[in-house]
This record gives sequence, C-alpha cells and structure tokens, in this order.
Amino acid sequence: MVLLCGLPSFFLSFSLMFLSSFSNFIDAQVQYEEYATAAISTRWVNTVPPVRLYLYADGSLMRTILLRGIGGSSLGYVGGFYCNGNCTTYVFAICIVAVHTDSGIPARSPSPQVVWSTNRNNPVKDGATFELSPDGLVLTDVDNIVAWSTNTSGKSVVRLNLTDSGNLVLVDKDNVTVWQSHDEPTDSLVLGQKLEKGQRLMASVSETNWPVDGMITLSLNSISLIAQLETNPPQIYFKGTPDLYKEFPEILYVEFVNGSLSWFSNSTSNGIFISVPQASSTQYMKLCSDGHLRLYEFMGSGWLEVADLFEKELSSDCDYPTVCGRYGICSDGQCSCPASSGGTSYFQQVNDTKPNLGCFENVPLSCGASKNQSLLELENVTYFGLKYFSLTEDLMDISASSCKEVCAKNCSCKAAIFWYESERTSGNCYLPTQVFSLINIAQKRFSYNSTSYNSIAYLKVQNVANGAPIPPVGNHTSNRLPVILGSSLGALFAMMILIVAIVLFVQKRDENQAEEAEEAYLDQDDNQAEEAYLDHVPGMPTSFSYDDLKTITKEFSKKLGEGGFASVFKGTLRDGTKVAVKRLKNLGQVKKSFQAEVETIGSLHHMNLVTLVGFCDEKSHKLLIYEYMSNGSLDEWIFHRSSERALDWQQRKKIILDIAKGLKYLHEDCRKKILHLDIKPQNILLDGNFNAKVADFGLSKLIDKDQSQINTTVGGTPGYMALELRSAATVATAAITVKVDVYSFGVVILEILCGRKIFDRSVDEEDMYLLSLFKKKAEEERLLDIVDKSNKDMQLNGPHAVNMMRIAAWCLQGDYKKRPPMSKVIMALEGIEEVPEDLDYDFSARPSSSGAMRLDPTTTTIQPSILSGPR
Ligand SMILES: *[C@@H]1O[C@H](CO)[C@@H](O)[C@H](O)[C@H]1NC(C)=O
Ligand SMILES: *[C@@H]1O[C@H](CO)[C@@H](O)[C@H](O)[C@H]1NC(C)=O
Ligand SMILES: *[C@@H]1O[C@H](CO)[C@@H](O)[C@H](O)[C@H]1NC(C)=O
Ligand SMILES: *[C@@H]1O[C@H](CO)[C@@H](O)[C@H](O)[C@H]1NC(C)=O
Ligand SMILES: *[C@@H]1O[C@H](CO)[C@@H](O)[C@H](O)[C@H]1NC(C)=O
Ligand SMILES: *[C@@H]1O[C@H](CO)[C@@H](O)[C@H](O)[C@H]1NC(C)=O
Ligand SMILES: *[C@@H]1O[C@H](CO)[C@@H](O)[C@H](O)[C@H]1NC(C)=O
Ligand SMILES: *[C@@H]1O[C@H](CO)[C@@H](O)[C@H](O)[C@H]1NC(C)=O
Ligand SMILES: *[C@@H]1O[C@H](CO)[C@@H](O)[C@H](O)[C@H]1NC(C)=O
Ligand SMILES: *[C@@H]1O[C@H](CO)[C@@H](O)[C@H](O)[C@H]1NC(C)=O
Repeated sequence: MVLLCGLPSFFLSFSLMFLSSFSNFIDAQVQYEEYATAAISTRWVNTVPPVRLYLYADGSLMRTILLRGIGGSSLGYVGGFYCNGNCTTYVFAICIVAVHTDSGIPARSPSPQVVWSTNRNNPVKDGATFELSPDGLVLTDVDNIVAWSTNTSGKSVVRLNLTDSGNLVLVDKDNVTVWQSHDEPTDSLVLGQKLEKGQRLMASVSETNWPVDGMITLSLNSISLIAQLETNPPQIYFKGTPDLYKEFPEILYVEFVNGSLSWFSNSTSNGIFISVPQASSTQYMKLCSDGHLRLYEFMGSGWLEVADLFEKELSSDCDYPTVCGRYGICSDGQCSCPASSGGTSYFQQVNDTKPNLGCFENVPLSCGASKNQSLLELENVTYFGLKYFSLTEDLMDISASSCKEVCAKNCSCKAAIFWYESERTSGNCYLPTQVFSLINIAQKRFSYNSTSYNSIAYLKVQNVANGAPIPPVGNHTSNRLPVILGSSLGALFAMMILIVAIVLFVQKRDENQAEEAEEAYLDQDDNQAEEAYLDHVPGMPTSFSYDDLKTITKEFSKKLGEGGFASVFKGTLRDGTKVAVKRLKNLGQVKKSFQAEVETIGSLHHMNLVTLVGFCDEKSHKLLIYEYMSNGSLDEWIFHRSSERALDWQQRKKIILDIAKGLKYLHEDCRKKILHLDIKPQNILLDGNFNAKVADFGLSKLIDKDQSQINTTVGGTPGYMALELRSAATVATAAITVKVDVYSFGVVILEILCGRKIFDRSVDEEDMYLLSLFKKKAEEERLLDIVDKSNKDMQLNGPHAVNMMRIAAWCLQGDYKKRPPMSKVIMALEGIEEVPEDLDYDFSARPSSSGAMRLDPTTTTIQPSILSGPR
C-alpha cells in the first residue's frame, strides 16, 4: 500500500511522509496534469521508493514516475522504469495501463502494454537515473554511462509533458516543442500517432526475451508504406501503395486514425493505406518480432489482438520473412531445411527440436573459395516478397541458367530465385544477399498480377576444399515438424483459455461490484482477484503417482522441513517448475475424503495463498504438492540477528498486507468459509519478490479430529492461540470463529514489527512474553522501544511501526467480538478505517460476557485438529 502511496519522485521531499502515513487516497483525486508534467531540473532514480512500483501478473514490473489518463476511458499512459521477467535490467518506457477511475491510481492488471521505450539495446540497472535538465532528458546507468539522451543540448528545455496521446514532449519557455517521443517511435503506434518519412518502427528480436532491436522495420517512402528486412539491400515483404499512385502528390506521413492507417500528402489529398477495425476503446498497433503488424484493443478487462493488418496482402504465414528462420523452407505450416543432394547434406537445423529457428550451412560460404561453390537446386521453391521486388532490365526475361550464372559470379549473392510462367528459358531473377525463409509451392504455383508462376530456388553452397562430399548429418527433410500448425493450435487453445478466464473474471467482477462500491477502498491490489484469475486458470490440482513424486523429488533427497505432521521436500516438475512436496505422516488420521478435500483446497486461487499444484493419494502415500517459494518462510526473515537480512519497512508493510489479503479471501471471499487455525510466521511463505502467501490453509479438513488430543491441539500453536480456544475445555465448547485467525494474525504483526518471537527465552523473564511487554510499553507510552531497529530504514520508520501496532492490538482483543474482520483490518492497514480508541491492552482479559464458551452464530462446523507442521 505504501508503494502505491509513493508519489512520483519529483515529490522527493515528501516521499518520506508518504512512505509511512496510511495516506487516504479516497479524496485525493489525482490531478493528472500534475503527475504528467515536470519542470527542470528533476531527477528520478530507478529504485523502489519513492517511485510507485507495480509487479504485474506477467512478471513485468513498472516503476512509475509519470501518469496521464486517457480521456473518457479507464486507461492511462504511464512513464517509468520497466522490466519484464528477469528484472535485473530496465528500460525507460511509456506503457498503457488500466487506472482506477475514482482515484487515477494505476491498476495491477492487465499487464502494461509498452508503446515506447528509450534504450531497448542498452538496458540500465537498479539505481539508474532519468534526469530532466535544460539540455533535455538523459538516462544514466549506475556506472555513470549515458544509456540514452534526447540530444537536445542548448535547446533550453523548461518542461516535460506526457500528453494524452502518450507523447513525451519537451518544451522551451515559449512552449515550443523541442523534442517529442512520437518522433522516435519504437515498434508501436498509438491512436493519433504519425509515422513520418524518415521515421520507422523496428520490431524487437523476440517477444519473450529482453526486447532488442531486430531487423524488421516499417517505414514510408514517397509513395508506399513498406515493411522489410534491413539487409543490404533491404528485402521487402510488404508494400502498401495507394490505388491512385500515379496521380497523387508526395506522401508526407501516415497517421493511425480511428478506422485506418491513412496517408497525408503535401496537398489536400489523403487516403487509406490499411483499413483498421473501428476503435471501440483504446487501440495500439505493434510491429511484432515475427513481422506481423498487429492491432490490439482494450476489451473490458484485457487486451485482445483484434486484427492482423498485413493479412489482406500476406495471406499465409509462409509469406513472412522469418517464419522458418534462415534457409528454412516453409511448407503448409511446416518448416524444414533444404534437402540433401547426391548424398551431400548442406544444411542443418539450428535446433533439432525447433525447426522454425531455421538452418545453417554445414560449410560456411567463402568468397575466396568460390570455385568450389555450387548452386543447390530446389524445385517448386520460391521466396517471399517477389511481387514487391523491382526488377531491373538485366534480370527480367532471362533464362534460369543466366540467372544462376549471375549469382555464381557475384560473391555477395547467396541464392538465385528464378520464377517463370512456363519455360525455364524465360523468367525473372532475384538475387538475395542473405537468405531468409523460403516457400515451398509444390503443386500450387504462385500467382500475382493475374499470372501464375512456377519458381526454382538455387542456393549457393560451399563444397569442402578437397571436393569430398560432406556426409549427411541426419535426415533433416524427414524431420518436418508441424510447427506452425502446432503453434497455431496452441495459440487457439491459449485463446480459448483466455476467453474462459475473461468471462469468469467479468462474472466475478460483476458479482463483486456492489460489494466493492460499498467497501470503496482504494488499492492497487484491489485487482488481486483479477490477477489471480489471469494468473491461474481455475483448475483442479493434478493427481500424481508416488513413482512420479519419487522422480520429482529425486527420491525425496532434499528435505526443506520436518514437523510432527509432515515432512517437506524440494522437487522439480518435468517442465522445470520447482515445487515443495509435503508428505503427510500419521496416516491413520488422514480423512477418507482426502481427495475431495484436496480438490476443494486446490480450487482456491489467490495471489496471497500458496497454490496447491497437485497431490498423491495412493494407499499408504498421501502427499501434497505446492508451488515452491524461493525465499522460504517468514520466520527466517524476521527473527534474524544480522542486519543484512533484516526486511525494510516497505517490505514488512507489504507482507502484513499480503497476509491480510490471503486471510480475507479465506474468510470472506471463497464460497466455503475457511478457517486457517494455524497462522504463524512458519506458515507464511515468501516468493522471490517477497510477496507473502499463506500456506497450509484448509489442512484442518484433511485430518480427523482426535478426541484425546483436544486440549493440546486446539487452535494450533501455543502463543498464537486465541484466548477463547485456550480457555475452552473441549473443541465442542470452543467458539471457533474466523476471529481465531484474526488473533493469530495480530501476534504475527507484532512479531514482524518487533523482529522477535512471541516467546523469547533469551531475554529477561518479565519481557519474555511479547504481549506482556507490549502491554507494559503501551501503558508507558514507550512503544518505540520494542520496534525492531536492526536497520536504518526501520529506525527511520519507527513511529509508523508504532502506529501499526494499534492494528495489532485491535486484532488481539481478548473479546473476540471486538476483533475486526479481515476486510476491516485491510482497510485499517490502508488508512481508510480508523482503529477504535477504546482498545484493551490487557490481552488476556476475559470478555465481558462469557462469549468464549458459547457457540457464536458465525461459528463454522470446522473442527480444528493437529495443524502445526512445517511449511
Ligand atoms: C538476466 O539478465 C541479465 C542481463 O540481461 C543476464 O545476464 C542474466 O543471465 C539473466 N538472468 C536470467 C535468469 O535470465
Ligand atoms: C545528436 O548528436 C549527434 C552527436 O552527438 C549529432 O551528430 C547530431 O547532429 C545530433 N542530432 C540532433 C538532432 O541534434
Ligand atoms: C500537457 O499536454 C496536455 C495535452 O495532453 C495539454 O493539455 C497541457 O496543457 C500540457 N501541459 C503543459 C504544462 O504543457
Ligand atoms: C505554456 O503552457 C502552459 C500550460 O499550458 C501555460 O500555463 C503557460 O502560460 C504557457 N506559456 C507561454 C509562454 O505560452
Ligand atoms: C508535392 O510533392 C510533389 C512531389 O514531390 C510535387 O511535385 C508537388 O509540387 C508538391 N506539391 C505542393 C503543393 O507542394
Ligand atoms: C471510432 O469511430 C467509431 C465510429 O465512428 C466510434 O463509434 C468510436 O467511438 C470511435 N472510437 C474512438 C476511440 O474514437
Ligand atoms: C533446442 O531447444 C530446446 C528447447 O528450447 C533447448 O532446451 C535446447 O537447449 C536447444 N538446443 C540447442 C542445441 O540449442
Ligand atoms: C577447390 O577444390 C579443389 C579440389 O576439388 C582443391 O584442389 C582446391 O584447393 C579448392 N580450392 C579452394 C580455393 O579451396
Ligand atoms: C513441381 O511441381 C510440378 C507441378 O507444378 C510437379 O509436376 C513436379 O513434380 C514438382 N516437382 C517437385 C520436385 O516436387
Ligand atoms: C501487372 O500487370 C499489368 C497489366 O497486366 C502490367 O502492366 C504490370 O507491369 C504488371 N506488374 C508486374 C509487377 O508485373
């Protein structure tokens, strides 16, 4: 929550204030103008506070410093340090994100859509700075090396403005624009953006890895819109030319307007290059790494690809230049390498399992050895973009042998593509200097301009020096995998899942809307439910065999923990996912309905609950497989003795809020109310980004209660057990309500803030029990004494920790009816709900009525049992 309170850092001086106060954003309607502009000289540092930090479901992270709403929509442009997946390096990016319309605060889902970035080839690290000075913008890495700048020195910049069309503009004192990001587009165009002559979009090398500029571009020449590979000379694979090209004046720019990508000329005439579906909400188009120009639109709750804009011209995937990589032959949705000839195999797949990555030559071409080169003939094979290629006279109407000859003589020629109507004695010749994907047209011929052609590709290959044939390396032609087909089926399947997820999400959202309006709390994490839906498509946990688990855990070799109730082992699934495998002991107690209960637990999905991935239910083997949490359990982080491992204030606040959200979901949001009954730091796990997740929920349902153990096992672990459980004689008489968990949660808050265990035998007896100490210090008004001050940040934030202790006290009230439900706890943590004044710090005080001994109307039928166990 604090992260979200962290305002853009040009409010640096206020940041400390925001770090701590549970600022209430309800009436802090964001003034976009204020967040979207900055004056000289402002400097932003790529670090957690004070910039806003968002981690999205797709693993990307946006440290936001600029924000501008898109008029009339629930979206906004944000500018900031962005990273995806591997967050060791960042680019400065402008993204489209959803915003909460009431507060203007960016929402956490869907994930940000990057529409512009500065330094794709040159990412910066944590601690890099982005600075606005009279000389313009400069992005400097931690090592003081300039990663990017606007090149506007001497232009006397006074202000920066992120406009409502996502344009980052620098102006001078006369409001004259001296630089704008729209003049240096990356791979995307947003509605209203122009692409002028001399500018170009450049696709990233890949969509998944860190985006690095590739070689596919989209640009404008005087009469056409051209997509090409930046080889020398370029290889065009798409060309859009207006119908009237003979008469019309010079095109100056194209503009993405509602409904088309249109051209505008130096006279009044203009027209359409590519029709685009009408925008029903925000759209952007992106030149993707595979060469497609795709149109995305925000629909309800997520982004959908609504059109593939080259589709009309390029009807088959084989028409794209990199679909099968270099030298790969695309054939009805399959990729393969050129076949061997006369027992000699000239090409090999780059990766045997991935034919679409292309092929490489067994012996690289060498100009010095051109005598020993030959041209490998591939009948019925053609090349992309031939219809856009402007033939010169010497390559028109020639024979196949002349075409070959020209290529053989020219060192830079790597292939001769010959296409002809009927006879090989008369056709056209194209000589690429680099060979990308080829197209197999067997049986079909290809046609354009109403003429049907046949085609032959001659690939230049190098023979070994002594002329000996190269032994064939495997049979690559038989290796044709249905890659494209597979991937499009995969895409279809993914699409179906996405649609299901969206439908479920929309339903869920509708259900929740009224409730949410009532609660009206603002939070970046309001969207956690959305995120959970996007994260995990609801499904049942997988059933594993015991033999599978032996493999997964390498014969249970790496033990993570051990408790009275289960042992936990580390494992790795076949796809590389790490898991924690929990093997239950005392099988006599495990319920007959084990599997049914496991499915109930497994159907719970929330970002603050540890996901149950699977289970094993074979006679004497009962195991549960959970997602693996790389930072272990909370106790390892808060009961430390060294300051390097000490969590800072931000992390502690976030963890407390995360636990609260996990518990709220169990108590209030899922169909079956679930009591955890064993909340303690050992059962709170932390992922690689210190997101806290509640573990071991629902276990009470797996284990039969054992009457003989009632007194010792009710409510789990001593110290975390609420009074009403401690004082109850039997399970039947105890008031087991959700407030049992609220109490345990109060203990955990205190432990986190004080950095010590509830029972600490290393201190004086009088201070050994944290709650007694808490009471004493509260009475003396010296609560600051007990705040964990093991690092500087906690020392600075001591007063805020003391403030939060009041929430802990509220949760710890002896009378369980006075404890707040988790939804109120969350509101209190966010500063929206006031903590009552009349708190009782005598946490062992009996409630006024003998409520603890009666069954409360909200009591569930769940019976607690032995719950303590390792994570
Ligand atoms: C993360 O990115 C850095 C730099 O790009 C790279 O060196 C490192 O190997 C990457 N790590 C992972 C796990 O991908
Ligand atoms: C940008 O800087 C380079 C060298 O620093 C210079 O050659 C170039 O003219 C500059 N461009 C503009 C638009 O100022
Ligand atoms: C920033 O741009 C918006 C248009 O998006 C404009 O209305 C506003 O006046 C500009 N602000 C400044 C300070 O230039
Ligand atoms: C420049 O624009 C800003 C915001 O639109 C305005 O407040 C200011 O008066 C303008 N300055 C000049 C010199 O026009
Ligand atoms: C527009 O450009 C064309 C081609 O360069 C030129 O012939 C024509 O005179 C120009 N028209 C105007 C109005 O500038
Ligand atoms: C685009 O045009 C259509 C049809 O005129 C209109 O309904 C829609 O609202 C427009 N979209 C935007 C984003 O302006
Ligand atoms: C081929 O691709 C697979 C799957 O991505 C990968 O595991 C393997 O390492 C790759 N092989 C080579 C030789 O790059
Ligand atoms: C070409 O091959 C012949 C044998 O076929 C060999 O004698 C000659 O050295 C090779 N030339 C080059 C440049 O490798
Ligand atoms: C090429 O296509 C023609 C028909 O267009 C067919 O007769 C011929 O067998 C094909 N050649 C190969 C090698 O597939
Ligand atoms: C297409 O056909 C027309 C008329 O048939 C001809 O004038 C034009 O040159 C042809 N274009 C190409 C690229 O062959």
